[in-house]
Amino acid sequence: MSTTPNTAASDHAAASQRPSCKVSASPHDAPASPAGKRPAPPCTLVIFGAGGDLTRRLLTPALYNLAVDGLLDNAMKIVGVNHGERETSEWREDLHKSLQQFAADKASTFHAGTLDDKAWDWVAQRLEYMAGEFETDDTFTKLKQKLDATPGGNVIFYLAVSARFFKPIVEHLGKAGLLKEGGDGSGFRRLVIEKPFGTDLASARDLNAHVLSYAKESQVYRIDHFLGKETVQSILAVRFANALFEPMWRREYIDSVQITAAETIGVEGRGKFYEQTGAFRDMLPNHLFQLLGMVAMEPPNSFDPEAVRDKKAEVFDAIQPLTPNDVVFGQYEKGPAGVGYREEPDVSPGSTTETYAAARVFVENWRWAGVPFYLRTGKRLAARRTEISVQLKPVPFRLFRDTPVDALTPNVLTLRIDPAHGTSFDFNVKTPGPVMQVGAVQSSFDYGDFFAERANVGYETLLYDCMLGDETLFQRADSIETSWCAVDDVLHPRAGGALPVHGYAAGSEGPAQADALLARDGRAWRPLKREAVQKK
Ligand code: BG6
Repeated sequence: MSTTPNTAASDHAAASQRPSCKVSASPHDAPASPAGKRPAPPCTLVIFGAGGDLTRRLLTPALYNLAVDGLLDNAMKIVGVNHGERETSEWREDLHKSLQQFAADKASTFHAGTLDDKAWDWVAQRLEYMAGEFETDDTFTKLKQKLDATPGGNVIFYLAVSARFFKPIVEHLGKAGLLKEGGDGSGFRRLVIEKPFGTDLASARDLNAHVLSYAKESQVYRIDHFLGKETVQSILAVRFANALFEPMWRREYIDSVQITAAETIGVEGRGKFYEQTGAFRDMLPNHLFQLLGMVAMEPPNSFDPEAVRDKKAEVFDAIQPLTPNDVVFGQYEKGPAGVGYREEPDVSPGSTTETYAAARVFVENWRWAGVPFYLRTGKRLAARRTEISVQLKPVPFRLFRDTPVDALTPNVLTLRIDPAHGTSFDFNVKTPGPVMQVGAVQSSFDYGDFFAERANVGYETLLYDCMLGDETLFQRADSIETSWCAVDDVLHPRAGGALPVHGYAAGSEGPAQADALLARDGRAWRPLKREAVQKK
């Protein structure tokens, strides 16, 4: 997150001074970095899965954006490993074309308009393709020869591959000696692992044990891309940089919290992956729990990575294990937004995989005891909306004769993460006129009104932080396991077999049973499709 320099980061800053790593300025030098930001130390980024979607859609735009900002070192190299022979020039051209397409596509998160050719050339010059299977010794021997050409060099291994390759790649890297660092007093070796990190508690433990038998925890960067989103990082700023919110951020004043990640898209050609994963595993114990962690954590003593991660870990540890009674699963059926899930490519016609999941979660600690956190996520819903709504308790006394307390609109602070970026606050004022009447209004802030927003895919900060050695925004082994632990009883219901999956129309607000989950507590979801409060 790069707030104040940490020790690891200063070590790397020192590493960047080493003459062996420096090259002299060339016509492909990146632009100067913005004030207050320093370029990352030189390193070789090895991407396993160079031909995959993640590399094309997210890693390349992020590297390009970092180059535009001058945050990468001139000596950086990017080696893309993938099965299938191809020329480096072909790979570069392929990535360039995709980048241009995303830049021109208004619906893409990387909607940059036109590309800065100088920045792209800078990245392209550093790309090198290497053909190799992810499970054969030969690939790692070749890779070792390549990396040995820069002794003591810093290397990041990015596993942008299907989860089944995580173990074999780590094992091969370890056995080839490629994860050994510091022997000659220089050079870091880091591993970036994408989600899904396991599919339940047992598999996450097993994967952690495997990875940690070849690398130290400080070398492992488990990615959750939600943490790279500016608006998610801003949750901590809203909470801890404003005297207004923190005093009321507790059970005495907060009635409930809703965390929503609703999507309008379907499974988009990922039927095979989705059939095995489902909405719950795909989003809940990772992305939604990370948002929950940011909302519920205690203030850390500093923004030191471990201080922040310790406080988040305490939240995951305090989550009361979910029971099947706290969870609702749904699957989209044919509706206004299109075909049903079972008609999607690579999906079984009798599939019982959930495309929607809602859960009621309790964080059992001093601050949050008794406050429900309602989480929901789903595909093909009525609107795209990722947000956190914090609802305050009602006022204690009926002061306005014609307006009972329970008829007042509750105060709700909404942190909007996607696609809108900002916050809003619902509160009550006197309506104009001679009679004392109360009416609901909304005060809102949009990032775009105050700051120049750039097309940012969320991986910029994560890649940059990994190069700096700042692990604040990455998940630690213990938090991964406590998160899976909290949901394990739902994934493997001990009694009563699998959870029922309820139908909902594609393009709707989700299954009726999810409404019932809140109704039984006397509450309701905030509608997904809603207009901003109307100004007259
Ligand atoms: C991914 C899930 O991790 O997150 C996808 O696998 C989901 O199914 C995506 O669509 C949502 O991320 P974002 O950034 O588009 O909200």
